[in-house]
Amino acid sequence: MTVAEQRTWVPAMVPWRATEDGFVTPEVLDWYARFAEGRPGVLVVEATGIRDIPSGPLLRIGDDRFIPGLRRLVELVRDRSEGHTRLFIQAIDFVAVRRRPAPAAFFGRYLAIDDALRARVAEALGEARWRSAPEPDVRAALAGAPRPVIERVLTPRDLEALDYGYRERIWDMHLPHIRALPDVLPGLFAQAGRRAREAGFDGIELHYAHAYTMASFLSRLNTRDDGYGGTREGRVRLPLEVVRAVRACVGDDYTVGIRYLGEEVVEGGSDVDDAAWFGVRFAAAGVDYLSVSKGGRFEDAKQPKVGEAVYPYTGRSGHECMPTVISDERGPFGRNVPLAAAIRRAVRAAGHETPVVTSGGIATFDQAEAILARGDADAVAAARQTLADPDWFRKIRLGLGEQVRRCEFTNYCEGLDQHHKQVTCKLWDREWTPDDSTVRLASDGRRRLTAPPWTPPYPRPRPRSRAATAPRRSRRASGSGPA
Ligand SMILES: Cc1cc2nc3c(=O)[nH]c(=O)nc-3n(C[C@H](O)[C@H](O)[C@H](O)COP(=O)(O)O)c2cc1C
Ligand code: SF4
Repeated sequence: MTVAEQRTWVPAMVPWRATEDGFVTPEVLDWYARFAEGRPGVLVVEATGIRDIPSGPLLRIGDDRFIPGLRRLVELVRDRSEGHTRLFIQAIDFVAVRRRPAPAAFFGRYLAIDDALRARVAEALGEARWRSAPEPDVRAALAGAPRPVIERVLTPRDLEALDYGYRERIWDMHLPHIRALPDVLPGLFAQAGRRAREAGFDGIELHYAHAYTMASFLSRLNTRDDGYGGTREGRVRLPLEVVRAVRACVGDDYTVGIRYLGEEVVEGGSDVDDAAWFGVRFAAAGVDYLSVSKGGRFEDAKQPKVGEAVYPYTGRSGHECMPTVISDERGPFGRNVPLAAAIRRAVRAAGHETPVVTSGGIATFDQAEAILARGDADAVAAARQTLADPDWFRKIRLGLGEQVRRCEFTNYCEGLDQHHKQVTCKLWDREWTPDDSTVRLASDGRRRLTAPPWTPPYPRPRPRSRAATAPRRSRRASGSGPA
């Protein structure tokens, strides 16, 4: 298994820089090269699709033709981190989410008109003729109907499709491809693991968190009746089958980690007791690490504008996933740590040494060091702080904590992510003037595409006298030492 040099970790962040066909681009390479320069112990490549299907500018690992690009990425990270950073790739599956339709398109094309709907229209409008009216007439009547009528005649799922856009659930057992998920997913994840290994990654991270397929299997909301839902045993069954399939494919000497939720933070969703129980099962199954996140579900997401897709980080569960300075008086700092700590305690009590990674509002050395010292987690992950300053781990190690560009946790970057725009940090632009033509810009031409460069003053050539070493020692002793 992979050994990380430091307990510092950059969790997955989608930067929307792949091609529309899911290939690595020069912009993807720049993004990871820049993080590698900060030399975190572990860097996790963004959520990468395990299927070979159109998914916008999201990386894909669903076919062997993606391996050469991914291999270039691995080589570049090795080179830029000078071999100090271990590189994992996060593998994701998701089910369909469509944009919120214009009402005319919804009633004109998307809504299925069946006998049950006709009967409800007849009842709501008080006219029996709607039971046998031609379909175009029913569509036209609904398109012009007042909202209370619409609310009476549409099923809750159809009303949701109108107001938020159509969204599949993994418990939609009437859909053959959803029913078949337990048959296809172990193989798809296993092949992704094989490709990750062939490309040279140090490990694969199975994305069981947030709003996506595998998190939904673990969810208490999962009502599948085929043995893959309902009870905890049922909900964890497919996630464990996927682990076993991946392990069988990549071998025992390869790192297989899981990122999953310590708490869903939605009504009726899984809580930390479920997460601790799952964590023990994952550890017993031989998973090499557990990376704990929180929330980020669709269930409480805000209504999107017409033409946009629902975004799982807009409701309360989303704010818990990427907390901001305006979340509440507690602010963003370390608010997910207790979940990791509870999972770690349960895993240790069951006799497993599986490392637990925590993330969410971690942005200072003291905070990270305290988490490790208390034994709340085995590694500290920082997403937005590392986006704000990819060199922050290195600056701290060198005793240059005062040079760290501090994340403001106001989620400008998340707003870009929401609209699938190239993700950048607003702080980068403070070190740039529009007349500087040497700086590479995002496709809108208005912001830096990568973090400003930074040249470490250390290590310097070997000092000639004792006196030359003194300043460095004193800076190290000032409290910003290695994590
Ligand atoms: C732009 C952006 C993209 C993200 N993409 C992913 C992702 O692909 N996979 C994932 O598990 N988490 C993703 N996250 C969540 C982060 O990994 C992390 O859990 C979250 O931002 C909280 O940590 P922080 O407070 O250190 O930012 C993303 C976060 C941001 C800001
Ligand atoms: S854009 Fe804001 S929240 Fe995002 S990394 Fe930069 S400072 Fe932090």
